[in-house]
Order: sequence, then structure tokens, then C-alpha cells
Amino acid sequence: MALIFEASSGGSLQGTVRVPGDKSISHRSIMLGALADGLTEVSGFLEGEDTLATLHAFQSMGVRVERPAGYGVLHIHGVGMQGLREPSEPLDLGNSGTSMRLMTGLLVGQAFDTVLVGDPSLSQRPMRRVIDPLAQMGALIEASATGTAPLRVRGGHALRGIAYRLPMASAQVKSALLLAGLYAAGRTTLTEPASTRDHTERMLMGFGYDLEQHGSSVSLTGGGRLRATRIDIPGDLSSAAFFLVGASIAPGSDLLIEHVGINPTRTGILHILKAMGANIQIMNERIVGGESVADLRVRHAPLHGIAIPPEWVPLAIDEFPALFIAAACAEGDTTLIGAAELRVKESDRIQTMADGLRAVGVDATPTPDGMVIRGGAGSGGMHGAEIDSHGDHRIAMAFAIAALRARDTVRIVDCANVNTSFPGFVTLASRAGLSIRAFTA
Ligand code: S3P
Repeated sequence: MALIFEASSGGSLQGTVRVPGDKSISHRSIMLGALADGLTEVSGFLEGEDTLATLHAFQSMGVRVERPAGYGVLHIHGVGMQGLREPSEPLDLGNSGTSMRLMTGLLVGQAFDTVLVGDPSLSQRPMRRVIDPLAQMGALIEASATGTAPLRVRGGHALRGIAYRLPMASAQVKSALLLAGLYAAGRTTLTEPASTRDHTERMLMGFGYDLEQHGSSVSLTGGGRLRATRIDIPGDLSSAAFFLVGASIAPGSDLLIEHVGINPTRTGILHILKAMGANIQIMNERIVGGESVADLRVRHAPLHGIAIPPEWVPLAIDEFPALFIAAACAEGDTTLIGAAELRVKESDRIQTMADGLRAVGVDATPTPDGMVIRGGAGSGGMHGAEIDSHGDHRIAMAFAIAALRARDTVRIVDCANVNTSFPGFVTLASRAGLSIRAFTA
């Protein structure tokens, strides 16, 4: 049985919506809340499968988490830096790369061994990017011959801080090493080739941990403690992305997306859509718990293709499935380069999106590190089709909103993983005006 989305052609997006909490911040709230001294109160937590996998993993290491009334409200009873207990079973992290990579960094600092497992997609994703630098810090992690999960993380090895230059722009790698650095003797300094999301850095400071940032480097010294705090998690810009693109491409749309995180390391989608001619107004900008938050008003506008500046790529890394749909509806060509990381996400997002775009009749040419999409009239517009999401949540949602501009129904198979990041997507999208239904077959 597979979950299928069927989105009918046409319509527009109207009214006011609130998307679920930020996935990256939700994961980190559990991890740091668990290691802190005292009670961390979280609101706006994303109750999606990925973040719940992190929550369950910490519960099975002895962390008590209460769920007082209210969606997304958690009380995490921190156990302190040395207070986690050995789990009795492997930790199942499902589809979640963030859980596996960040937790590997955190678990090398524990006194006990852990085994980390995931679903077939996660079990194919590259883990050497964390295993190798963690080994330089003195950690021991066993993986498959191809450097993938299951991972056996050996505890009880003394760690030392390192200075490490990341070979790829990855917030997951940076965060894994920062978490290991908390347990290392001396200083850990990480230098990134391009800015990536800095939620770990902001949250560590929110928990009272000293951290130094100089240009593209961040450093901390191990051995400190975390002080419990309150965390108010904003809506996820990566989930808002589908509504930003949907309202931009669908004539007659005028949609307000409330309370969305607009951390500057995440706003590539806003830069890219605006450069394509989108009409997006950033309203009521405010700071909530160390993160920038705003309401976004988006109205339909004619889009044109652009060459996407490579420096924006890491700032929009999860938004390309949605952005490729915008490109398909834009006039002229859109060219993406410098995005090879898309090939190692929940699916190979360059190939999966190119296949899907071709299925709806769009002229899309994948390249090793990007794509060229001939948009709008040049491509003849989109027709209906059946799309295989390959179990990738963001591919499924991207093609659902494509129906707003397709000439016929778009049917998407293998959509269950939408629940990893966006539970309630179908209900919320329907309320805003997308004609979509979900069923199993
Ligand atoms: C994330 C970092 C990004 C992103 C992922 C979440 C994070 O991954 O794609 O969805 O929370 O740190 P990479 O670090 O692999 O780019």
C-alpha cells in the first residue's frame, strides 16, 4: 500500500496559513535540551516523523519528556552532559539524515556504545563526511563498507578538539562536529566553504555555551555545561516554500504565511524567487528566541528564469524541488550549478526532479551539479502525469503544487514520507485552495 496524492489542475492560494515548526530547530531543541541541566520548555515543536525519531531516541537513552497540553509543547528534563543512559536497542532514525549525523557527533562523547539504523533511503546516504573528521578527534565509528548506516558508535574514547575545514557546505557535518567538540579536550574550530544554517550555533549560545565566530569559522572549547532554557520554534521556511512557490505561480493568489523563521542562513529561496520576479512582502519582522521571524505575504506574479548565483545554493538547499517548479512556470531558462549536494538528499533530487519535470512535459536537463530548466511558453507548459516521488517528501509536495499550473491532474505516488517534515500538508494546502486528495492504493 502506497500513499498517493492527486492534485487537480488549476486554482489559486488564498487566505492565511501557518506551517509546522522548523525541522532543524526542532531536532536541536531535543538534543541540547536533553544534555542541559534543568527543564527546557519547547513550543512550536515539529511533530513530524523525523523529529519524533530524535525525540524517541533520547527517550530511550533515559531522557524524560512531558507533553503538556498544546500541539508542539514539550518539557524536556535535561540529564546533563554525562547523564544519558545506554539504550537497550538500536536507535531507529527512520528517514532522518539530521538525526543520524548530529547524533553520531553527540554519541561519540558518551561512555557507552550505540547502534544507529535508518530506513532504506537513510541507509544509502553518505556518513563518512562525519565519520572521518570524528575519527580525527579520536572517535571510533563502524559503518558499512560504503560508509553508510547501520553505524556502531563506540563510546568511551577520549576526544580531542581539532581544526577542520569542511570539504562541503553542510550544516549537519558542522553541527555533528560542534556536538562532539562539547566532549573534546581543548578547542574545536570548524571552517565552512560557504555559509550554512547556523541554528546549532545560535541554540548553543541560547543554552549559555561560549562560542566564537570569525568570518567563516566557528570555535568552542569542550568541557562546559548547558543551561536549560525556553525555545519558541518558528514555522519552517522549507515548508513555507511550497506555498511561496504555489502562490507565486497560480494566477489570482494572495496568501499570508504567518510566523515563519527567516534566519539569514535559510533565506536563499526568498532571494531566488525575488530575483525571478516574485511578489513577496516580509512583514512584522521580529526576533523570537534568537531567531528572526516574519509573516510573508505572497501574491501571484509573472516569473522569469535566472542563473541562480552559486552563493545562494547552500541557503536554499532544501528548497530546490519547489524552486524547480517555479522555474518550470517562469519565462525563459533557469540554470542551477554548484548543487551536487542535491544528489545525496532523501532522494537524488536532481534526477528525481528532472524525471518528474519531463513527465509533466517540461524541458529539464540534469547536469552533475545542477539543472537547466526551460520554462513557460518555451517548454509548452505543464500537463498532467503520474510522478514517482521516490519516497522523498519534498519531491511529493513540489509536484502537488505544480498542479496549480498543470493542464490536467498530477498524481504522485509514494507520498507517506511527507509526514517526516510536514504532517497536515494535504489539509493545509486544501484550505489554502489547492484541490488535492490523499489516499492509499
Ligand atoms: C540540515 C542541514 C541540511 C539540510 C537538512 C537539514 C540541518 O543538510 O538539507 O534538511 O538541520 O542541519 P546538509 O548539512 O546535508 O546540507
